[in-house]
Amino acid sequence: MSPQAPLPPPSAAEAPDVAAPRTASGPVLSVQDLSVSYWGGAGPARAVDQVNLELAPGEFVAVVGESGCGKSTLLFSIAKLLTPPAEVTGGQVVFGGQNMVAMTDKQLRAVRWRGMSVVMQSAMNALNPVASVRAQFADAMKAHGERRKDVVLARSEEVLRMVGIDPVHLSSYPHQLSGGMRQRVMIAMALLFSPELILMDEPTSALDVVAQRSLMVQVKQLQAQLGFAIIFVTHDMSLVSHFSDRVVVMYAGQVVEQSPTRPLFDGPMHPYAQGLLEAFPSVYGPRVPLLGIPGNPPDLAQLPQGCNFNPRCPRATDRCRAESPRLVELGDRRVRCLLYEPGGTDGAKP
Ligand SMILES: Nc1ncnc2c1ncn2[C@@H]1O[C@H](COP(=O)(O)OP(=O)(O)OP(=O)(O)O)[C@@H](O)[C@H]1O
Ligand SMILES: [Mg+2]
Repeated sequence: MSPQAPLPPPSAAEAPDVAAPRTASGPVLSVQDLSVSYWGGAGPARAVDQVNLELAPGEFVAVVGESGCGKSTLLFSIAKLLTPPAEVTGGQVVFGGQNMVAMTDKQLRAVRWRGMSVVMQSAMNALNPVASVRAQFADAMKAHGERRKDVVLARSEEVLRMVGIDPVHLSSYPHQLSGGMRQRVMIAMALLFSPELILMDEPTSALDVVAQRSLMVQVKQLQAQLGFAIIFVTHDMSLVSHFSDRVVVMYAGQVVEQSPTRPLFDGPMHPYAQGLLEAFPSVYGPRVPLLGIPGNPPDLAQLPQGCNFNPRCPRATDRCRAESPRLVELGDRRVRCLLYEPGGTDGAKP
């Protein structure tokens, strides 16, 4: 399909794994059956496996899961930032009515930063160490056709103020800023063109708890003020519980549960989500031993027979070792576990 061709509407049978709340203007992003593999010696490792995800304007969706389960690969594939050996093997990413997967570099440049921007884990790596903040902002704006010096300066000052940094720091170099300030500069840069969607991959993980919290509060305030949607990848369940509207739990490249945030924390349905939350100490509740999840995620090039989680699942039965569960829709939640399919695992309910 050519990138300009109108996209067919999804059929009624193809309900997304992660459905955005319905709004008059429709979803800001629609990921449909997206699969990504890394090609290596042991064969393809499917790091993203037929993921469907929709995001409503202004929504804050958190993506969680253990290391290696495909969170960053999903984010990179949405932003079309993947490089070999990673390859999109199927599906599409519809943003602004266009399929990003099929876009040319020129079309992409128009979307990236303007419509959608990305904030990575380490601003120290993402920022150019030998260029001032002003020069980096100017480069980003120039790359998108804005060369008028007064406009560039005014917008640069404006976005820095938005993230609580005095515009005198436009002349600072990255090493002259604290870690928290560098992440704020990255967020300011992501805001230069007022995008509809910001993808954040562990943007606060290099910061101490206090800096993390204040950055997140600021991001939420900006979101309320400017209305952009966020996909936020993190390991920090406390940030998820405080800041996200919905949670996507990934395991071995698949969405295994998606839910509005509060119901997930009140009662995770998938045994993997239950394990993840047991590994997360409650700030308010009684002290309980951290059981977590024994073992490690599978090698993505050699997945187990049946459910991907069955070798580690405390509730696995013979059916789980034979059958791959599909994503079951239960109200506004979805869960990929045979416990919730007709017949269950020998009829047992969690
Ligand atoms: N450059 C690469 N080459 C080959 N395989 C890779 C590469 N990067 C990632 N992978 C594979 O993709 C899987 C998912 O990686 P990804 O970085 O998306 O996970 P993640 O959930 O973001 O992990 P983390 O929480 O550690 O950031 C990995 O388990 C690995 O098998
Ligand atoms: Mg990652």
